[in-house]
Amino acid sequence: MKKISITGGSGLIGSEIVRHLSLDHQLVLVNERLPHVDEIINEIHDCDVFINNAMHKWGQVDLLMKLYDLWRTEDKLIVNIGSRAAAPNISIGYEYSTVKSSINHFSDLVRFKDDAKKCRVSTINPGLVGKIDGVSLTPSYIGEIVAWLVNQPKYVEISRIDVSHVAPYEQVQRMKKNTQKQSKE
Ligand SMILES: NC(=O)c1ccc[n+]([C@@H]2O[C@H](COP(=O)([O-])OP(=O)(O)OC[C@H]3O[C@@H](n4cnc5c(N)ncnc54)[C@H](OP(=O)(O)O)[C@@H]3O)[C@@H](O)[C@H]2O)c1
Repeated sequence: MKKISITGGSGLIGSEIVRHLSLDHQLVLVNERLPHVDEIINEIHDCDVFINNAMHKWGQVDLLMKLYDLWRTEDKLIVNIGSRAAAPNISIGYEYSTVKSSINHFSDLVRFKDDAKKCRVSTINPGLVGKIDGVSLTPSYIGEIVAWLVNQPKYVEISRIDVSHVAPYEQVQRMKKNTQKQSKE
């Protein structure tokens, strides 16, 4: 049994991650909110695994960098919930995309540069989740992926999982726009 902490554990994806992990592990739902990174680290520093799920401006990146600095030589795991929008896209604003791409970039960088690295860092980059039937992944599926990652042997680092519904990207974006338009009408 591992001690696993998560931000945004009450949200669409977070609640499914919690559901998939809580049978086998001790879950810590982080109380403190971003951008209060030092306070969050105070709550999670003694955990084995941290799920960096909640997004708030640059807070997710700050938290990743500071926690990695603390955990880098330890046998720990950080799982980032990134986004398909880490790659160029037309769906979401520049800040969101740049934040998600920075999460991937930082994680790749420490893998190359840090000779003392022991802490594993995995990033899941999902496409649309749970919003439009027929073109979205279910939040439960993301929960399954996180549970699988957590159960990998300690010598295995899964760097990145890019995962989307098979529906073509432009079709998904058109449906998303229509749904947003209808909900405004
Ligand atoms: N849904 C998608 O289609 C999708 C696709 C790709 C990636 N993602 C990523 O998946 C992650 C979770 O998204 P979601 O769709 O599950 O969002 P969500 O349903 O809106 O849930 C967000 C969660 O984060 C918490 N939260 C919000 N602001 C926070 C803050 N400043 N500090 C700490 N916690 C905060 C919320 O708590 P409160 O309700 O109390 O505010 C809630 O528990 C995000 O990183 C998002 O970028 C989502």
